Amino acid sequence: MTERNPGLFGGNKFKLGVFGANCSGGLSLLKERWSGEWDDNVSLAKLADDAGIECLVPLQRWKGYGGASNVNSHCLESIAWACGLLGQTRHISIFATVHATLLHPVFAAKQMATADYVGHGRFGVNLVPGSNAGEFRMFGQEIDEHLDRYAMAQEWWDVIRRIWSSQEEFDFDGRYFKLEGVIGRPGPYGERIPPMMNAGASPVGRDFAIRNSDFHYDWCQTPEDSRERIKESKVRAVPRVLQVWSPISVVCRPTQAEVDEFLNACVENADWGAVDRRNASRLAPRGSKSQSPESVAAIRQHEQARAVIARDHYSIFGTPDHVANELARLSDAGFDGVAAIFVNYLQELPYFVQEVIPRLERRGLRRPVSAVRLAS
Ligand SMILES: Cc1cc2nc3c(=O)[nH]c(=O)nc-3n(C[C@H](O)[C@H](O)[C@H](O)COP(=O)(O)O)c2cc1C
Repeated sequence: MTERNPGLFGGNKFKLGVFGANCSGGLSLLKERWSGEWDDNVSLAKLADDAGIECLVPLQRWKGYGGASNVNSHCLESIAWACGLLGQTRHISIFATVHATLLHPVFAAKQMATADYVGHGRFGVNLVPGSNAGEFRMFGQEIDEHLDRYAMAQEWWDVIRRIWSSQEEFDFDGRYFKLEGVIGRPGPYGERIPPMMNAGASPVGRDFAIRNSDFHYDWCQTPEDSRERIKESKVRAVPRVLQVWSPISVVCRPTQAEVDEFLNACVENADWGAVDRRNASRLAPRGSKSQSPESVAAIRQHEQARAVIARDHYSIFGTPDHVANELARLSDAGFDGVAAIFVNYLQELPYFVQEVIPRLERRGLRRPVSAVRLAS
């Protein structure tokens, strides 16, 4: 039996992922902005696989954020995307980002188990409850106080896990799902449940992640601010082992002057209407405490480059030494890994692999890819 999701459990002390490549990028209308096209995703997945990067994590968007850039409007459905990429890679884990509220669990369990066979146990699920009201209306649903997103997600995940581990039919009598004679064979590859990631940020969302997930995909303001929160999340998850990861945005160039020039070009070409729309639409109408209108204004005023390039993830803009130092800082704060977005993944990942990963190896945060694969 091969190892389930090689390198994601154990493996390197500090793990690396690539985030969001299934969607077109760019709150800036730069010519370099990412297309999100399939062939580019295949090239990127092979490059990341060869470099020993542990995983790819997609976004799941159903419509763009409008404006001239209409960011994320081109979005490949992430379970189908994961299947295709698992079929073309050998080591890397590939997650799908699945809206628990939009995809029936009996269907999802079977589809995700099938993806897991394609990858011989390299599939993972990033469970999202959904927070974008406009997308939900496309499905005839409203996000409001009547839809307790995380209570529904809990039932969804309970049904999925039960389907994956059950040889017998069962009934499920929940608040959201009332199901009879449920069965879904085959279970996942090797009958072992794929890892689950969740990015809950509100108190109820974070509780959900701590209770259920293998990876809490947590926001980070500064590594030091996250230190206590990470420790607390891991302690609260015991006896389960919880990894805490964060999304980051990276711009890495040989000199700071080149970094600054690129950041200026991003800001000069920014689609500010789309930046505001995106941040406003991500304010869950009720129940979410993770953003506020003040934060939208703050992003506009104080963090132009970060708002345009990094969306609102922790951003690392600098030379390879700076990027490696920042990643070491995140590791030191307790993060187990990061998943990075780049303005143009295919243009920028090779330099990151060439310059930053060896620096992490020299610090003992990662081992050369050949050593990791020989040991497994
Ligand atoms: C890195 C990251 C990726 C996310 N990806 C998606 C996504 O693809 N689709 C989506 O609807 N929500 C996505 N979310 C939103 C989260 O699932 C979650 O709703 C958000 O962090 C707010 O937390 P809350 O639901 O506890 O309020 C993402 C969040 C983070 C931090």
